[in-house]
Amino acid sequence: IREDPTEVGSYIANYICRRINDFKPTPEKPFVLGLPTGSSPIPTYKHLIQLVKDGKLSFKNVVTFNMDEYVNLPRDHSESYHTFMFREFFSHIDISPSNVNILDGNAIDLIAECKAYEAKIKSYGGIELFLGGIGEDGHIAFNEPGSSLVSRTRIKTLAYDTILANARFFNNDISAVPRMALTVGVGTVLDSREVVVVVSGQRKALALSKAIEEGVNHLWTLSALQQHPWALIVCDEDATAEL
Ligand code: GLP
Repeated sequence: IREDPTEVGSYIANYICRRINDFKPTPEKPFVLGLPTGSSPIPTYKHLIQLVKDGKLSFKNVVTFNMDEYVNLPRDHSESYHTFMFREFFSHIDISPSNVNILDGNAIDLIAECKAYEAKIKSYGGIELFLGGIGEDGHIAFNEPGSSLVSRTRIKTLAYDTILANARFFNNDISAVPRMALTVGVGTVLDSREVVVVVSGQRKALALSKAIEEGVNHLWTLSALQQHPWALIVCDEDATAEL
């Protein structure tokens, strides 16, 4: 538990920096990092960018896989997760664009796209550290309530609560929010060697308490982390309101 979102961000960024540097990644054995979108990870991204600028961290030998992407939202739309990731993070660090992997929500064959994503993760020997965020309904990536806890990358219809929560990014126009997304599965996240989750704000307090103080439950998919051998939740004080 850290005081506020900025402290959460610097804690996670320093943690990731240490993990990458200790790993000593090379082109042959890159560090494979899973990444989220949303407002919660922005302070982490800001701090990571600063670490790169200060020469303390390099993403030259880091390969990234993003958690999710909207279906049928043009890639260059200001709210696509592709645009978000380059705007908030990738454009400011020394990562090679060929090491960036983001699901293509405009692929002609979405099922094939999901399968290929899983295969590509496997081809790198799996994800070393998956950084995740959660929704107010406790979803990790876009694994909405009711998702199988062994699910893999797939198409998911967004819960109405998620559409409402994300309308703020679409000028509060609910009808503009995509109804579907591609997302890594809960099983995909659980397969990562380590999972770190960022949770900030009182909006997330109920989800956090359900996920860590109640049993493993497919209605609060973050709770699946209880069964992961190496998982860390970093939250701010506001997010602990229901604990
Ligand atoms: C979306 C993403 C999630 C993310 C969530 C949280 O739903 N698909 O991966 O965790 O937003 O967003 P925020 O941090 O803005 O609350």
